[in-house]
Amino acid sequence: MEELVIEGGRRLQGAVQVSGAKNAILPILAGCLLARGKSVIRNVPNLKDVRVMGEMLRELGVKVRWQGEHRMEVEVVQDDRIEAPYEWVRQMRASFWVLGALLARRGQASVPLPGGCVIGVRPVDLHLKGLRAMGAEIEVRGGNVIARAPQGLHGAEIYLGGHFGSSVGATVNVLLAAVLARGRTVIHSAACEPEVDDLANFLHLMGAQIRGIGSPRLEIEGVEDLHGVDYFVIPDRIEAATLLIAGAITRGDVKVVDARPEHLFAILDTFREIGVPLEAGDRWVSVHCGEMVRFHSVDITTHPYPGFPTDAQAQMMALLTTVEGISVITEYIFPDRFMHVAEMNRLGAGIRKENAHAIVEGQRRLSGATVMASDLRASAAMVLAGLVAEGRTRIQNIEHLDRGYERLEEKLRALGAHIEREKVGVESARISA
Ligand code: UD1
Repeated sequence: MEELVIEGGRRLQGAVQVSGAKNAILPILAGCLLARGKSVIRNVPNLKDVRVMGEMLRELGVKVRWQGEHRMEVEVVQDDRIEAPYEWVRQMRASFWVLGALLARRGQASVPLPGGCVIGVRPVDLHLKGLRAMGAEIEVRGGNVIARAPQGLHGAEIYLGGHFGSSVGATVNVLLAAVLARGRTVIHSAACEPEVDDLANFLHLMGAQIRGIGSPRLEIEGVEDLHGVDYFVIPDRIEAATLLIAGAITRGDVKVVDARPEHLFAILDTFREIGVPLEAGDRWVSVHCGEMVRFHSVDITTHPYPGFPTDAQAQMMALLTTVEGISVITEYIFPDRFMHVAEMNRLGAGIRKENAHAIVEGQRRLSGATVMASDLRASAAMVLAGLVAEGRTRIQNIEHLDRGYERLEEKLRALGAHIEREKVGVESARISA
């Protein structure tokens, strides 16, 4: 087992490179099931989740080869496998995206239901509604979604808005199915996250006909076949946001190279409201905080893109714990996504959770403690808080962090953070009843 140990109090300075987007490469890999011929994918972040998706594709008859650290070669070599093993879906929800692709290319699929996770219940009703509208016969049996399209899938008008707004996952699954379906599909209330656009651009390059990329109305004209391509994945906006917050929380000077300001509007706007001095260029964003800079508390609400991303909520909370005044954070997408609150309070933060709100009473002083990472973004938030907590912070359960951040501690160390990864025995883990 590994832990991160941070000695807080260092002001971060320098430039750091952001990796490729985890949430873009995962649907792109699912999309590889649709094509004939080899695809080369570049700027692939070398992450646990990506490796899990690679293993899942291998089980489904896809040859997946890493060429160096950030480049993958992917080619379907056997297209009669239709069962996604529980082993992989259990580890990562995104593997559920093979459902739409298998159904479109192989006419049937059996994919385990992903179940809930610490950030909430996370149903898949919208995914199934969309696929059913395209002619799929779907039943849920023994924990598996068993889907068939004996006549092939056909186009349909599909509304994918749910109680919590648009759904990234449902949009991806329906898009993957629609590109090879007969006729025209229109997705209304499609998710507009840059990662969905990246998948659509990837499919378009493969020969798919998609109009309205980047908008909530996607119009897809099904084609007979798709071919392999050479593709470069977009940079990870959530990692970029995390690194910028690392700069701001330590009142440092940090430039994030390859960050796309156009993907970060809500984050940058929140920084401006807080009073974080910012600069942005074509492919970079930087924060410059002197000792004298004064930050203000703010209220934020998470929303689907282009709103404030739920995936940066925990990290922004860490920053707000160090800003005088009361900030209110409302989680509109995953109302239970506040597992990090109790752990931040262990570092001395003053946060109260009330239903889908967290009320943060900000102050400058946090002090180091042993804390537990509960999910991917909560782990990043604990790292950020550890960077400013006085003394030593020890973060357990960091396997969550490795799912979505490529060598975060190395990047932070290069900016001057005092952060180490340590191997520890099982007995040092905090036991919870
Ligand atoms: C994706 C992201 C995740 C991010 C989330 C919201 C990946 C691998 N994961 O997750 O990092 O936090 O988008 O930006 O890209 N919902 C339903 N029914 C459905 C599907 C979703 O009610 O069939 C609800 C969810 O419970 C949630 C909301 O819709 O409240 C948004 O979820 P969704 O956008 O689908 O999230 P994911 O695709 O799971």
